[in-house]
Amino acid sequence: MLRCLVSRCFLTNPVAGQTRKMSGGSLAGSQSSLAGKVAIVTASTDGIGLAAAQALGQRGAHVVVSSRRQSNVDKAVAQLQSEKIQVTGTTCNVGKSEDRERLVNMTVEHCGGIDILVSNAAVNPFFGNIMDSTAAVWDKILDVNVKAAFLMTQLVVPHMEKRGGGSVVFVSSVAGYQPMQALGPYSVSKTALLGLTRALAPELAQSHIRVNCVAPGVIKTRFSQALWQDEDIVDEFKKQLSIKRVGEPEEIGGVIAFLCSKDASYITGETITVTGGMSCRL
Ligand SMILES: NC(=O)c1ccc[n+]([C@@H]2O[C@H](COP(=O)([O-])OP(=O)(O)OC[C@H]3O[C@@H](n4cnc5c(N)ncnc54)[C@H](OP(=O)(O)O)[C@@H]3O)[C@@H](O)[C@H]2O)c1
Repeated sequence: MLRCLVSRCFLTNPVAGQTRKMSGGSLAGSQSSLAGKVAIVTASTDGIGLAAAQALGQRGAHVVVSSRRQSNVDKAVAQLQSEKIQVTGTTCNVGKSEDRERLVNMTVEHCGGIDILVSNAAVNPFFGNIMDSTAAVWDKILDVNVKAAFLMTQLVVPHMEKRGGGSVVFVSSVAGYQPMQALGPYSVSKTALLGLTRALAPELAQSHIRVNCVAPGVIKTRFSQALWQDEDIVDEFKKQLSIKRVGEPEEIGGVIAFLCSKDASYITGETITVTGGMSCRL
C-alpha cells in the first residue's frame, strides 16, 4: 500500500505564481524564484532526482519527492526538511498506473495543485549486445523510461491548466544522442525522450505549459557507478570531455530548476546537454 509521509503543506499557496515567505527568501520576486509553486519530481530520493528536488526547493517550491522504497522516501524527506525545504514524500513506482495516479492525487490534495513535473525515473535492466535484448527488456525499459514519462505528463497537465500554465522537464541522457556501448535499449529510450519533448511542446504551449529536457553526461550517482568507479573507463571518457571530470548531481539539478523558472520563460521544446563539453548531436 502506498503510504504517505507528509510534511504539512501549510506554506503552500494554491495559487500559482503567488509569492510568500519561503526557504529561498533571497530569491523572492526574482525571475529564478519558484515561490508558491508545487513541483513533482519522480525518482527523487537519490542522485539527480534528489538534486533537482533540492534545487527547486531552494528556489522556494514545495517539492513532492517519491521513489519505490518507503525507507528511501523517509530519508530524502528528512534530508530536505533539515535543509528547510518544503517537502512532501510518498512511494511511487512510475511503472505502475495506480502509483502514478495516487502521486498526482495526493499532490493536489495536500498541496492544492501542480505547477512543475520533473520526470526523472529510468531503469536499465540490460547490458550487452542490442541483438541479444529480449521483448521483456524492451517492455520494461520503454514502460518506465518513456511511457511513464508521457503518462505522468498526461496526468498533470489538467492540473497545470487550472493554474494557468506550468513546466515539464524530462531527464534524458547523452546516450540519447550517442548510444552507449552495451546500453542499446536504454539509449534508444533516451532518444525517444528528445522526440517526446518536441512532440509535446507545441501542443502544450497553447496551455502555457513549457516542455523541456536535460541530457546529462556521466554524473556521479549510484546508477552510473559502474562507469565512474572504473578508472580506465573514466580516463577514456575524459578524452571526450572539455571539463575533465565526472559531473555532480547538483550540476543537473540547477539546470532543471532554471528550466522551470521564469528565467526560461521563452524556452520550450529544447534539450540542454549537461555533459562537461562532450560533443552531442543526432
Ligand atoms: N548518473 C548518470 O550518469 C546519468 C547520466 C545520464 C542520465 N541519467 C538519468 O538520470 C536519471 C536519474 O538517474 P540517477 O543517476 O540520479 O540514478 P540514482 O542515483 O541511482 O537514483 C535513482 C532514483 O530512482 C528511484 N527509482 C528507480 N526506479 C524507479 C521507479 N521505477 N519508479 C520510481 N523511482 C524509481 C530510486 O529510488 P528507489 O530505489 O527507492 O525506487 C532512486 O531514488 C535517470 O533517468 C537516468 O537515466 C543519469
